[in-house]
Amino acid sequence: MNVLDRRTLIGAALALGACESAAQGPPVPVEIGPLRAAAPFPLGVCAQVSHIEDPEWARLAATHFSQLTPEWEMKMEYVVQPDGGFRFDRADRLAAFARAARMRLYCTTLIWYAQRPEGFEKLDESRTSFGRAYDNYITAMVGRYRGQAAGWDVVNEAVAEDGRGWRESLWASRLGDFDHMRRAFEVARAADPDAVLFLNDYNLETIPRKLDTFQRLVERLLNAGVPVTGLGCQSHIDASLPSGTYTRTIQALARFGLPIHVSELDVSIVRAGRGQRRALEERQAGLYAEAMEAFMELPAPQRFAFTVWGLRDRDSWLKRENASDTPLLFDDLGRAKAAAAGLAAPLGALQPLASLYGNENRAT
Ligand code: XIL
Repeated sequence: MNVLDRRTLIGAALALGACESAAQGPPVPVEIGPLRAAAPFPLGVCAQVSHIEDPEWARLAATHFSQLTPEWEMKMEYVVQPDGGFRFDRADRLAAFARAARMRLYCTTLIWYAQRPEGFEKLDESRTSFGRAYDNYITAMVGRYRGQAAGWDVVNEAVAEDGRGWRESLWASRLGDFDHMRRAFEVARAADPDAVLFLNDYNLETIPRKLDTFQRLVERLLNAGVPVTGLGCQSHIDASLPSGTYTRTIQALARFGLPIHVSELDVSIVRAGRGQRRALEERQAGLYAEAMEAFMELPAPQRFAFTVWGLRDRDSWLKRENASDTPLLFDDLGRAKAAAAGLAAPLGALQPLASLYGNENRAT
């Protein structure tokens, strides 16, 4: 789709959102059809147990999404106990919810620099070596959800913040900076021969050196025969991202021919800095549209899934950074925002506005 068509589409989407409201007034919700029915690939959302216990969250999520990623209860911070034991109760509940709602399960994350559980730091190596404990963890996690999990973030955020080299971590220091990654993928592959195994990272849109280092790492892993079979672009972006940048990033990642997961998309308003809120919301809607279009332009076998990092604004992890941020598709009450219209438009899921003249406002 060319830029002009996109503008028309987004304009129509925003007209639905802004219709009859004063420029500064609260946005009027837009009408969208069930997104999951309109997407010929899995549409994902992340969740915590507290979300699935909320009937309104559950209804909205099951209407629009066909894939579920546990937001944190499948991470070491929850699973690994100080004594080295594992807790699967919450991850199991999320997996059961996904089954009942006919949502595919996506799992995150096995090895992440940000996790240093006490169980590993204080490991009694006279009983089990660090490497064996590492393997045991991956095998237990991946094995438990084998047959249900479509894929795993095996190594998360491996590239240094500024893109100069790789992250330091407990795992790199104990098992080697390249070898801990190789090992994680190999052990995960042995535990589930069918899951797609991802290297997942963020700020690939905004830090060219980080994208470059990420690509070099993918090459190196693939050349070494490591079973990386998918690439995840977290996509924690903000409304200041210039038009076209996101598309170029997805195209750069797609060059490897591997399945792509837009794995954690949100579009922060607050992180965009100064600007009129309504204008930033318009940019936000435009970026949701651009992200969806860029994904839809991938060859079908490369469209692994398109996942947003939260359902309603009040569910967003970004609220902890700034309570006034509104980065997601639905407002606090679960009403579709202009952002949702932006994402729905390329999918053809905008609802017609009924009028005396029929559905002439339909934007698709
Ligand atoms: C975040 C979750 O949203 C939080 O609830 C949790 O406390 C910490 O992790 N990059 C990632 C995600 O890979 O796993 C992070 O999710 C957000 C940044």
